[in-house]
Order: sequence, then C-alpha cells, then structure tokens
Amino acid sequence: MAQRRILILYATSHGHTGKVAERLAGQLRLRGYPVDLRQVGRLERDFSLERYGAVLVGGSVYAGKFQRSLRRFVAANKAQLERMPAAFFSVSLAGISRQPKELKTARRDVERFVIDTTWRPPSVGFFGGAVSYTSYNPLLKLLMRLATRSLGARDTSRDYVFTDWMVVQHFADGFADMLEELPTPPEQPWVPPSISPRRPHV
Ligand SMILES: Cc1cc2nc3c(=O)[nH]c(=O)nc-3n(C[C@H](O)[C@H](O)[C@H](O)COP(=O)(O)O)c2cc1C
Repeated sequence: MAQRRILILYATSHGHTGKVAERLAGQLRLRGYPVDLRQVGRLERDFSLERYGAVLVGGSVYAGKFQRSLRRFVAANKAQLERMPAAFFSVSLAGISRQPKELKTARRDVERFVIDTTWRPPSVGFFGGAVSYTSYNPLLKLLMRLATRSLGARDTSRDYVFTDWMVVQHFADGFADMLEELPTPPEQPWVPPSISPRRPHV
C-alpha cells in the first residue's frame, strides 16, 4: 500500500525539540511511514509542502511564544497546511504536567500561536521540555536555575530532560492511526529534493 510521506517540521532554540521530532519520526517509521525531518530555519527558499502527504509541525516556547521562524512559516503556508492531514506539537516546561489545570498555560501559548498565524491545527500534542544548561550562557544558566527551582534542576553542569517519551510516542501513534483512517493517497512520482545553486566564487 502506498504510504504518505510525512514531514516533521520543527523549530528549536536549544536543540531539545529536535530530539522530540526525532522520537516522533522513529515511531512513525516503525508504523511504516517514510518521514523527513526538517528544521524550519534551514529550509531552501523554494521549499514546498506539496511533496508531502501529511505534516507534523512543532516548536518550543520562550517567554510564552514559539519561534518567529515557525510562526512566519505557518502563517505563509496556512492554505497548504489546511489541505493536508496535519497536527501541531508544543515543547515547553509548562507542558510537563498532565494536570488539566497546569496545562492551561501551555494551551494559552498555543492559542496565541493560533491567533498569530491564523492556522488552527486539528490536534495538538503538549510535551514537557528540557532545561539545557550545557547550551546556555552563564547569565541564562543563573536565570533558569532560579526559574526552575520547583523542578529541582539545580546542577547547571548538566541538562535535565522532563519529556515523557511515552506521551510523545502515543501522539505519533495517534497521528498514524488517524492517517490509516484516510483513503489511500494516489501514488506520487518521486521528486528529488531541490538543490540550491551554489554562489559562484569571486
Ligand atoms: C529563556 C527561556 C525562556 C523560556 N520560556 C518558557 C515559557 O515561557 N514557558 C514555558 O513553558 N517554557 C519556557 N522555557 C522552557 C523551554 O520551552 C524548554 O527549555 C524547551 O525544552 C526548549 O526547547 P528547545 O531546546 O527545542 O528550544 C523557556 C526556556 C528558556 C531558556
């Protein structure tokens, strides 16, 4: 059976969302889907969603907002996103809890993203993030040590991962289950990824 090629498009500032995206990709591949992982700030100018049969879009929260590059991409590609099976995932410290009350903040951040981009994703996954001390500068280490006191992330010489990988895996499975309910897509000819022309040396 022809399987839809899935794109996982993500934005990250300190790398952790890339690891979440890899875990999602791994699970979807186990379910038999071909998956491409792409970081939103590193796309070719002529990058198009049209090669894909489904997309997972995700980013991490900084001061209540997702990365600007992600917001811009989603706003610019809203029409295409609405034409394909899609879902959104959010990585944040507010997303650590499974308690509805505490997830309120994480939901509010996604609502702001929806208002900013006008894209309303059909489903949203909330994943706990990480305190990535080893990639912070000294000032940010200090600030994050204070801000994450309640999480017990005290040792600034190491990173703390608060992602529940089972929740990530379940989300990927839910997405795969949803795709399996859809009619089989028509066989698509393979299109090579576009290659950006090199600048000539002067
Ligand atoms: C400067 C800074 C601001 C942050 N602001 C928020 C926030 O407003 N809400 C939240 O839930 N998490 C916040 N976080 C936690 C990040 O969302 C979390 O570290 C996430 O794993 C980052 O993912 P990334 O490494 O892919 O960028 C913040 C982290 C930093 C370093």
